[in-house]
Amino acid sequence: MSWARRRAFAALYLLGRGLESAATALRYAAAGLLDRATLQAAIIEEWRQFGIAQEASDDVSLFAWEDARFIDRDDRVLLIGCGTGRDLLALLDRGYRPDGLDLVPEAVERARQRLTERTLEALVRVGDIETVELGQRYDVFVFSWFCYAYIPESARRVRVLEKLSAHLARRGRILLSYAPAQQAGPRRTLRLTRAVARLMGASWRPEAGDSLAIAGPTMSSVTFQHFFQPGEVEAEARAAGLHVLAHEPSDQAITMALGKPG
Ligand SMILES: C[S@@+](CC[C@H](N)C(=O)[O-])C[C@H]1O[C@@H](n2cnc3c(N)ncnc32)[C@H](O)[C@@H]1O
Repeated sequence: MSWARRRAFAALYLLGRGLESAATALRYAAAGLLDRATLQAAIIEEWRQFGIAQEASDDVSLFAWEDARFIDRDDRVLLIGCGTGRDLLALLDRGYRPDGLDLVPEAVERARQRLTERTLEALVRVGDIETVELGQRYDVFVFSWFCYAYIPESARRVRVLEKLSAHLARRGRILLSYAPAQQAGPRRTLRLTRAVARLMGASWRPEAGDSLAIAGPTMSSVTFQHFFQPGEVEAEARAAGLHVLAHEPSDQAITMALGKPG
């Protein structure tokens, strides 16, 4: 191999890397054009597509990190983000009493169908945990599979925790899971999103740890997830007047149980 060929190889590789970084930067800049409503619509669309992809699945398993240690058989449970019913049905099969809530009407419809097919009963509603009227107290609120991390903005997550706390029975628990922070999107490019959002007066502020992936040219092709730094969920829990009952890291997920003091 000649020296010139080796140099050309390295140059083309580095150019490719540069173009990849530029493409990521432009996508993150584009994400800054979203406002709160379009981001919310994109989040709903993402989960609608996820539900469609799961339509044929009849999975009723729990992941290794989703053990029900903090739930008693007679607890009233609300599973937030029940989707098409994987974990809802798994909990019912194990003798628990969960209600379900999900953003996506089609997913809720599928979950109800699966309940009927199994002659199981549970109240499954369409709604956003940020805005839904809870109407009753629960012993346990479970955020399904990283669902807490799908809520943009720390202040909004804290408000959700405050709302759940107000509807939590004595000795109630809030269970949530999230992915470890090293999977977050690039920090420098996120600054671009923030700059564009500020410039455009967006009603939503991207925050450090937010990861935004854009799969296509429409605003509905954005996916959002927040990746928490160590201590971040604890701080949000404290801000909502809650304390941490358990904090358990594993390879795929970190799980936490929160409760009211006293
Ligand atoms: C990773 S999926 C899990 C679905 C199902 N529990 C499962 O494990 O197959 C997350 C679900 O949370 C729902 N979700 C996300 N944010 C939500 C919110 N703010 N309120 C209610 N549901 C939400 C989505 O619609 C989606 O169905």
